[in-house]
Amino acid sequence: MKITVNVWRQKNADAKGEMVGYHLDDVSEDMSFLEMLDVLNEQLTLAGEEPVAFDHDCREGICGSCGVVINGIAHGPEVTTTCQLHMRSFKDGDVIDIEPWRAGAFPIVKDLVVDRGAFDRIIQSGGYISVNTGSAPEANNLPVPKEDADHAFAAATCIGCGACVAACPNGSAMLFTAAKVTHLGLLPQGQPERESRVASMVAQHDAEGFGSCTNIGECTAACPKGIPLDVISRLNRDLLGALAAGQA
Ligand code: SF4
Ligand code: FES
Repeated sequence: MKITVNVWRQKNADAKGEMVGYHLDDVSEDMSFLEMLDVLNEQLTLAGEEPVAFDHDCREGICGSCGVVINGIAHGPEVTTTCQLHMRSFKDGDVIDIEPWRAGAFPIVKDLVVDRGAFDRIIQSGGYISVNTGSAPEANNLPVPKEDADHAFAAATCIGCGACVAACPNGSAMLFTAAKVTHLGLLPQGQPERESRVASMVAQHDAEGFGSCTNIGECTAACPKGIPLDVISRLNRDLLGALAAGQA
């Protein structure tokens, strides 16, 4: 395929960015989107130009580092991670716009790379459990109902990619925060900090500059892991509980 990519180029956090167009003459439909960017970077390097900076690590949909906005959609035209998107989703002659996540709480570092440290700080504020030292307890001492285990596991599949924030008109990270609150709040090990956790994580979410949730649902539609909106309802119930207990 011959394609044109318009890529956001920005030298550093303070520089003014712009979209720059590049032509690629030999793109295979079997390439992943990131492999197509590798080809672009090889082309730029051979021409003595600066390659495009983009984040990636696992390239198999589990680390959450690779997100970009493709033709205005977080992670592009399929509901998957950018690394799992393939060029067969595009056709010969296509013009593809590639931009970094657009959210005030995710400042641009360079080109397509944004700083998602705000997510780390939300986790640090409450995404943990207290663990007593000593040997590991007998697993059967902590029975977990199957339904709770399944819901906790589903919430734990959030990979922290940030597509929910990029897709949300409010720039809210409530789906991410709620997935973490739900994951721990459903398990017996998560009960001691259940109220302080939700209060701290929501306070940190707001302090980072993420917007409020108004139940639009773009987050869950863009989420490559299918985190459902009901985790936000669960977060709100837990937050009310924390308020009633004087924890928030
Ligand atoms: S909730 Fe979904 S879209 Fe948001 S960070 Fe987690 S995996 Fe990514
Ligand atoms: S590179 Fe790890 S999820 Fe895409």
